[in-house]
Amino acid sequence: MGALQGAWASYSAFMAHSPVSCVAITALVLVFSIITLAQLERKTNSSPSEPPTVSYYVPFIGSMIEYGMNPIGFLRRNQKIHGDHFTFLMFGRRMTVYLDIDGNDFVFNAKQACATAQDAYNSMTKPIFGEGVIYDAPSSMMMEQKRMVKAGLTVPCFRAYIPIFIKEVNQYVDKHWTKDEDTVNLLQSISEMTVMTASHTLMGPEIRSKLYEGVADLYHTLDLCLSPMRFLFDWLPLPSYFSAQKAHDELDRIFSSVIAERRKHTGKKHVDMLDALMDSQYKNGDALPDKHIGNLLIALLMAGQHTSAATTTWALLNLATNRDVVDEVHAENEARFGRKLGAKNFPEPSYEEVKGFAVLDNIVRETLRIRAPISQILRKVISPMAIPGTNYVVPAGNYIVASPINSATDEKYYKAAEDWVPSRWNTAEKEEDMDKATTDYGFGATTTSARSPVLPFGAGRHRCIGEQFAYIQIKTILYVLLNRFDFSLDPKCGMPERNFRSLVVFPQGPVMCRYKRRSD
Ligand code: HEM
Repeated sequence: MGALQGAWASYSAFMAHSPVSCVAITALVLVFSIITLAQLERKTNSSPSEPPTVSYYVPFIGSMIEYGMNPIGFLRRNQKIHGDHFTFLMFGRRMTVYLDIDGNDFVFNAKQACATAQDAYNSMTKPIFGEGVIYDAPSSMMMEQKRMVKAGLTVPCFRAYIPIFIKEVNQYVDKHWTKDEDTVNLLQSISEMTVMTASHTLMGPEIRSKLYEGVADLYHTLDLCLSPMRFLFDWLPLPSYFSAQKAHDELDRIFSSVIAERRKHTGKKHVDMLDALMDSQYKNGDALPDKHIGNLLIALLMAGQHTSAATTTWALLNLATNRDVVDEVHAENEARFGRKLGAKNFPEPSYEEVKGFAVLDNIVRETLRIRAPISQILRKVISPMAIPGTNYVVPAGNYIVASPINSATDEKYYKAAEDWVPSRWNTAEKEEDMDKATTDYGFGATTTSARSPVLPFGAGRHRCIGEQFAYIQIKTILYVLLNRFDFSLDPKCGMPERNFRSLVVFPQGPVMCRYKRRSD
């Protein structure tokens, strides 16, 4: 005790004479102590039965900053050090990564009794989607909701959606891209086009017509809340959380009035998602409550809008630097329609024609390979999970993480894997060609295995149900824009980097791009 008092007295005297050096020394001692503590923490957190833990300096925070800045680079670096499985600490959460195709299968096909998407995502999505739908519903109920949504994603619906997509894109560029050539914020324009096309087809013309009456602002408020921050700080009363609740309640009110109006005029049928959901029933005969219809529509818009906008923007940015691919699109159009297409005078393709555009298909597929909008997939472990072929067991409470974009850009599977080469899909094996075995989780048959290097739409019980909608929406937007304009990158900005701050991986903004009107 006396020694401690002596030390404190010398420290106080030193502080009085040289405060700057003293602060510096104190800071050094603090950093040193934190590092030492961190090492201790690392040792105590590593159990021989768990995959190795990535070393970190600050306890609790762990690898949060490094991972948050560039998750894909972080995973690649640690894969080189630890192999395909390792655990990292992120703000107190233990994240166990399993990479490559076996990891994809491990996470996507995790048994519901072992690891769930509900436990991983619900705290993030509930304030936005609302109660009782998707991750806020028991798994079996969620699968039924996915089945109901698929009723609005059928071929007859797609046939009705194509002319709406074309009309919306034409209206947008006629209103906003009025000059013969200009530089525009491409991400902003494409996001607006996808909101309009998706709202019109999924939510119906009534909601679409209200976009400029505040509905777009309400979406935007919800968007701001759907961020990785909510995954980490779901307990914090952030202002965005309260604004999201208000925006959600207001949208709920708007949806209820549209649904009530449609119920008054039962004779008038609409071919859109709203009507499909209003006609849906659970297996036990219960109708989908109106509140859940509105919540599902919000969930679908949130799931589909950003993913499609990011993919379309990345595709156009790559087309802007690959004139040869644009020429291939025009050559295919000419061959299909038997004449050179002009900027104004191009035919409105049918659903079957859009589906058949092979070059555009390769463009979307290749963009999704290297720029998959959802780069990490999470599940929360609720019962210990053994990693097959190893002695490792992932304990309950950890999250398991797959990153299909890691395998999709691995040289082991694709030559020049980071390059954007749509023509590789003329010969490369596509996901749908790989495994014919299917399972029905309650929303229709889906491929059973997830042992594929490229899985932009996921796999297993949580597989995306919007893939076909996304393909025809993106291909139609590209078809209209490429017929009307030529694109080039803005020399001042060049090709943007990826922005990992949002849940969907967008190009880092502002995403400026040049368009030039094509002559007829
Ligand atoms: C699920 C990607 C468009 C609705 C998923 C998942 C991925 C994904 C990776 C799986 C998530 C997981 O396993 O944790 C994409 C991409 C899209 C796209 C890349 C566009 C390029 C859409 C659209 C809709 C939609 C347009 C709606 C019309 C859904 C739904 C789920 C889902 C309802 C199911 C969630 C679950 O079961 O957990 N999507 N999606 N998506 N997506 Fe999409």
